Amino acid sequence: MRPSILTLCLAVAFAAGCTPEQAPPPADGSASTPSAEPGTDLSEPDAAMRADAFSYAEPDSVRIKDLALALDVDFDARELSGSATYTLDWVDPEAGRLVLDTRDLSIEKVVGERPDGKWDDLTFVLADPDERLGSKLTIAAPERNPRIRVTYKTSPEASGLQWLTPAMTEGGKAPFMFSQSQQIHARSWVPLQDTPQVRFTYTAHVTAPKDAMVLMSADNDPKAVRDGDYEFTMPQPIPSYLLAIAAGDLVFKPVGERSGVWAEPAAIDKSVEEFADTEKMIEVTEKLYGPYRWGRYDMLVLPPSFPYGGMENPRLSFITPTVIVGDKSLVSLIAHELAHSWSGNLVTFATPKDQWLNEGMTSYVENRIVEDLYGKDLADMEYLIARNELRKTIGDMPPQGQALAIRPDVKVTAKDPLTEVAYDKGAWFLAFLESRFGREDFDTFLRGYFDHFAFQSIPTTTFIDYARENLLDKHPGKVSEAELDEWIYGTGIPASAPEVKSPLLEKVDAARTAWLADGTLPAKAVTDAWSTQEWLHFLDGMPATLETAQLVALDEAYAFTGTANGEVAMRWYPLAVRSGYTQANDAAAAFLEKIGRRKLIMPTYAELVKTPEGLKLAETTFARARPGYHPITTASVEHLIEEAKSPGTAKDGPVD
Ligand code: BES
Ligand code: ZN
Repeated sequence: MRPSILTLCLAVAFAAGCTPEQAPPPADGSASTPSAEPGTDLSEPDAAMRADAFSYAEPDSVRIKDLALALDVDFDARELSGSATYTLDWVDPEAGRLVLDTRDLSIEKVVGERPDGKWDDLTFVLADPDERLGSKLTIAAPERNPRIRVTYKTSPEASGLQWLTPAMTEGGKAPFMFSQSQQIHARSWVPLQDTPQVRFTYTAHVTAPKDAMVLMSADNDPKAVRDGDYEFTMPQPIPSYLLAIAAGDLVFKPVGERSGVWAEPAAIDKSVEEFADTEKMIEVTEKLYGPYRWGRYDMLVLPPSFPYGGMENPRLSFITPTVIVGDKSLVSLIAHELAHSWSGNLVTFATPKDQWLNEGMTSYVENRIVEDLYGKDLADMEYLIARNELRKTIGDMPPQGQALAIRPDVKVTAKDPLTEVAYDKGAWFLAFLESRFGREDFDTFLRGYFDHFAFQSIPTTTFIDYARENLLDKHPGKVSEAELDEWIYGTGIPASAPEVKSPLLEKVDAARTAWLADGTLPAKAVTDAWSTQEWLHFLDGMPATLETAQLVALDEAYAFTGTANGEVAMRWYPLAVRSGYTQANDAAAAFLEKIGRRKLIMPTYAELVKTPEGLKLAETTFARARPGYHPITTASVEHLIEEAKSPGTAKDGPVD
């Protein structure tokens, strides 16, 4: 239930175009456009709900059913090169072309298989790049070849890949690379129909230097030997944003029968300890929502530059090392990524504008796992912390950004969908349904939903229809149409939102209030027992600024400056900057340099850029940190700094 991008990033995202805007016209002037272009018939609800403004693909004409990758990993050139072979389902018998999404790829050759098994060259046009969508690749295929192969290589600047020098890794000896495909970055390393409504199985043959272990979102073998030659299979159909690869000095240790951790040797033991409850989490989720359908569930611990907290790549979640704090207090992130194995990977949103179907549902399931495994106190604290943040920020968002989904008849194009609305309002909506229908009936509904739509990609309207039939109509008089409508399409937080109470956090409120009133800090015996969540709440409730003497007192008592807990740091440093507590500047800068996880660092950058001295510190820190940042993080910080220097001029970067 943690919002993935907090207020700060919201500012960046909204500045970059969260209000409805038209997708840019096709750069090559051809007739094919992103499907939510003005030409789309939006009066037809299903077409409107499925229109994906983030992709040039034409899934109503042809669909990739299987992808066979043959790639070589070249650390020196920072390049993946090879081919992608697609097995195609020509949905429209009249169709004559395959349109793929690409970004910064060099396309060398395209061939198509004839019915007699021979391969012919096919002509293709690579359009000029659009800033957000990349370059449309149009392949002429009048014969509707059953298979088409594209030979290509990536750019060293591929937005979906990060290449790390040995110095940027924990071990310091071997280079490292990893992908981050969500939302629309898969196209920067594989030419694809990069829309979640196309699902495909895949195989990959990957070559790499002999000492590099290569992993993918597929059937990784815990006993794989490093020989520079790797084969992968993903037998379940997945959307493109779940395609993932990583390579480096990686070792494996099991945490359970079907789960384990991959990490650099220096990080493996502490990771295994932190994530020891993973098998129990799988069991809890299976008990609630049906079998885990992906075989193994492994986690890959990435270097601190990983731009997200976690990424639910199937069979191999990618995880930030910032949750390894030694006391398992941040493992709800593992519950979250695991939960996506049901909500997101099994039942997938049809377009990124239905983000809440993935993230809201996952945040709800995450909280259920936490409650089952660690108790209601912790689950409620996590709900409250997230909901307080949502309450603080939602009112400042443009009205459309406050809704879980946009009505089918409203035109929306490349809006950035990633806010805490999708996560926390989404989870709250499901908690509301649970409270009205009762846990038993709601669990039955959700389990049925996962089974019914397994391995399908659906728009919000399909969820609504299913909920109407299987909840509202089945148990009449519990939730009205108007309430359903308000939760999904309304702004703000509905009056029907169920509240949770947390006696533990109420004690924290009392402690903070007492300290603010007369400077009496809570007794050590009390704070020694506080969990990370209580500390976060302690800081979240502080006034916008504090006196220097107060900050000094807090630092003397709790040593916030220099904290090793990124969740604490992302709250403490912005408060310190706002309050002019320059003693914390060095530690803040060191934090910004070491960590690349956007959620953790953007709030501090955002406070810094508000004053001329702060802006200077932000710029010098960014200049130092930049070589180690992921392209996604670099784009966010760059945008923020540019906007601060000359508001309204920063250009839109690619979507999250
Ligand atoms: N799937 C998301 C990450 C994501 C979403 C990347 C949209 C790009 C676009 C992932 O499951 C996620 O939500 N990560 C959160 C952590 C989670 C505990 C809320 C994050 O990275 O902060
Ligand atoms: Zn998520």
